[in-house]
Amino acid sequence: MISKRLSAIVNLIKNDNNIADIGSDHGYVLLELRKKGFVSRLMGVENKKNPFLHLKENVARSGYQNIECAYSDGLNDVDNEFKTIVIAGMGFDIIKNIILSNKEKLKYINNIIIDSHTDKSKVRPFFISLGYDIDDEVVIFEDDIYYDLVSFKKCNNIQKYTMEELEFGKTNLLNKSNDFKNMIIDEINKNITIIQKINDPSSLRVGELNKRNDYLRGIIK
Ligand SMILES: C[S@@+](CC[C@H](N)C(=O)[O-])C[C@H]1O[C@@H](n2cnc3c(N)ncnc32)[C@H](O)[C@@H]1O
Repeated sequence: MISKRLSAIVNLIKNDNNIADIGSDHGYVLLELRKKGFVSRLMGVENKKNPFLHLKENVARSGYQNIECAYSDGLNDVDNEFKTIVIAGMGFDIIKNIILSNKEKLKYINNIIIDSHTDKSKVRPFFISLGYDIDDEVVIFEDDIYYDLVSFKKCNNIQKYTMEELEFGKTNLLNKSNDFKNMIIDEINKNITIIQKINDPSSLRVGELNKRNDYLRGIIK
């Protein structure tokens, strides 16, 4: 059985329209898509030898004949038939670099599913600036980590978002799931720990952290 995070990523893929998983590693997302009955082209891309071998091995072992494996960097070998890309389990700078190195390929890509493990607040504004609107999103908690998963769809008429919606997601703010609320509480608690360590109520950093915590408390009220 695949992990809760990978299963949530698969659930965000709604269109069976040729899907490339960039940084596929084990290939579990692609195998799960086939298992779910997705019939379109599937491609796993890996730019490192061992994960690539791992990917090829898992695909071969699965018995599915038609999952392509590319030993390649980012979107370099993703042709214009691919309409959905998944980039999961990486830092935001790598994700951004993968996209900007092949920006012209976005012309063909309609759906993008992102699981960034750093700088989560930059994810939504970045993809919105490239002409994608938020299609769906979910926060999940697994192995002591909160994951903020977002799917984007190409859109000519992108909604206007508030600052809070850009950082946390409109759907997440409406649903206020337990995992979402706990993610916010976790940040508040981490900030309190830092404040206690600084132990100087007049310091600028403490002021900033207290302000951030007031803002976060407002989010989950
Ligand atoms: C931490 S793993 C995540 C694997 C899987 N996507 C997941 O979410 O479980 C990140 C993978 O991305 C691959 N990777 C990083 N940068 C890449 C790039 N520019 N092109 C292709 N693969 C890349 C790494 O080799 C690594 O296997």
